[in-house]
Amino acid sequence: MRALTVDPKTAGSFQVDELPDPEPRQGELLVRGLAVGVCGTDKEIVRAEYGWSPPGRERMVLGHESLGRVVTAPDGSDFAAGDLVVGVVRRPDPVPCGACARGEFDNCRNGRYTERGIKELDGYAAELWCVETDYAVTLDPKLEHVGVLMEPTSVVAKAWEQVQRVGERAWYEPRRALVTGAGPIGLLAAMIGVQQGLDVHVLDLVEDGPKPHLVKELGATYHHQDVDEVAAHLQPDVVIEATGVGQVVFSAMRNNAAFGVVCLTGVSPAGRKLEVDAGSVNREIVLQNDVVVGSVNANLRHYRQAANALAAADLDWLAGMISRRVPLESCTDAFEAQPDDVKVVIDLDGRR
Ligand code: BGC
Repeated sequence: MRALTVDPKTAGSFQVDELPDPEPRQGELLVRGLAVGVCGTDKEIVRAEYGWSPPGRERMVLGHESLGRVVTAPDGSDFAAGDLVVGVVRRPDPVPCGACARGEFDNCRNGRYTERGIKELDGYAAELWCVETDYAVTLDPKLEHVGVLMEPTSVVAKAWEQVQRVGERAWYEPRRALVTGAGPIGLLAAMIGVQQGLDVHVLDLVEDGPKPHLVKELGATYHHQDVDEVAAHLQPDVVIEATGVGQVVFSAMRNNAAFGVVCLTGVSPAGRKLEVDAGSVNREIVLQNDVVVGSVNANLRHYRQAANALAAADLDWLAGMISRRVPLESCTDAFEAQPDDVKVVIDLDGRR
């Protein structure tokens, strides 16, 4: 079978390799890969800025935004051949820490968790892959063409859950949400916000193209003006920050409603400095009982929430988020940004 492999220590080292077909161990599914999504983390790995191969090996199979179809399933499992499935990214640390021991591996405390296609485990960018039944989630069959959006949706499902849990420490009825960044994470966060009945606003830099269109189709409001101006005017109860840009992050903290929750999901490179009035940021957070919470990854509960959110979404809208599909053999194209890119997907089943 063919797989997209990379040496995370060497920039630009990704290539399509012919590898032996994987053999499922006890309790594992054998899955035919349909597609993998490409995200910022994959691009960082390809640039040798992030990622770790399995111990003792130079190369790892890339890909953590998976979608596949079950080929074989263990007898007595909840899965059957033909099921549409997604593999979970993270596995608990071996200690395990208290969070991992309770299935909350997305909140691992000691950092020794592993992640498929990112940290010490092969990923899902392969024509065939195996996954433990405990770390696979089935999708509604109608999601065959868009189910590859499941992993980023699980990440935003977790973010929204964090917001809700933080909010519930006192009376909580949020009305207005601002999502900063209209990439896949921002758009999927906006989608869930709309599903929750919130008045959703999305801010990004671009003035035209697919992003403003997708926001409008969702029934949300698109903004491209200065973030301070937009946020100060909106006074959102919730901000889901999906740019990782320092100026946007601090603007979100300064300009929200009392009891506001800012959830940070964007990973930014270190070393970018910004002049901020730390006193006024602190003062605003304290005097308004605001909370700023970081959120990464997702556990099984969030994957299930994501499966429901995708099943409830408009399929054409989801399909509109996938701006390009490239076959595995041309995967280099997937890592070269094009102006109207939203989510780029690598198709794995071209030779079927
Ligand atoms: C993935 C997460 C992962 C994080 C850090 C993100 O791109 O979606 O599942 O935890 O990278 O490795």
